[in-house]
Amino acid sequence: MENIIRQTTKLALHLVRPYVTPDAAVVDATCGNGHDTLALARMNPAQLYAFDIQEQAVRATTELLQCHGYSKSIADGKITVCCQAHEQMGTVVPGGDCPGAAPVRAVIFNLGYLPGGDKERTTRADSTLAALRAAMELLAPDGVICITMYSGHPEGKREKTALLEFASALDAGKWHTAYVSMPNQKHDPPEILLITRKS
Ligand SMILES: C[S@@+](CC[C@H](N)C(=O)[O-])C[C@H]1O[C@@H](n2cnc3c(N)ncnc32)[C@H](O)[C@@H]1O
Repeated sequence: MENIIRQTTKLALHLVRPYVTPDAAVVDATCGNGHDTLALARMNPAQLYAFDIQEQAVRATTELLQCHGYSKSIADGKITVCCQAHEQMGTVVPGGDCPGAAPVRAVIFNLGYLPGGDKERTTRADSTLAALRAAMELLAPDGVICITMYSGHPEGKREKTALLEFASALDAGKWHTAYVSMPNQKHDPPEILLITRKS
């Protein structure tokens, strides 16, 4: 038995798993050390895209994937790891209006800074909102965007407030949102925001 609620990052991946069908394109918008990207690769989607603004993160993610047998998937273009800001994901990931493109069924964000890295290179409210809008443009009907938010540092707090405000204002006829918080955990635990496109 796997206890999926003890670790928020595991819970996020568990929530996303049903959307990662063999025909799907999926996006890791913040690949960091590559743990989430590897977990998505193991779910075997048709296409996997991973983004990070730091060379160090792109290198770590690529090496982790290679260590776990995904070199051919990278060479074939089934997995693409990009050193690019996630706000630009629409320039790399083909959307639903692109003939033959795999539908984007899941986009994950694991916000904050690279564990063990430069805390200044954290995700920020403005660029995260821009990336969220880009992800929403790409998302197929019934696809999911899953955002793990960390409000234990000042920028993370601003980011969480901005995201919840944005999600609360979404047209309920077009989007459905869910918010997972951890009510008995102390010291600003990570939380999850989920957004799905209704049609
Ligand atoms: C918490 S870490 C991600 C952890 C990662 N998912 C893993 O499994 O190791 C957040 C990452 O977001 C990246 N980041 C910050 N701003 C970004 C942006 N605008 N576009 C893409 N990545 C960004 C940081 O460089 C950092 O590596």
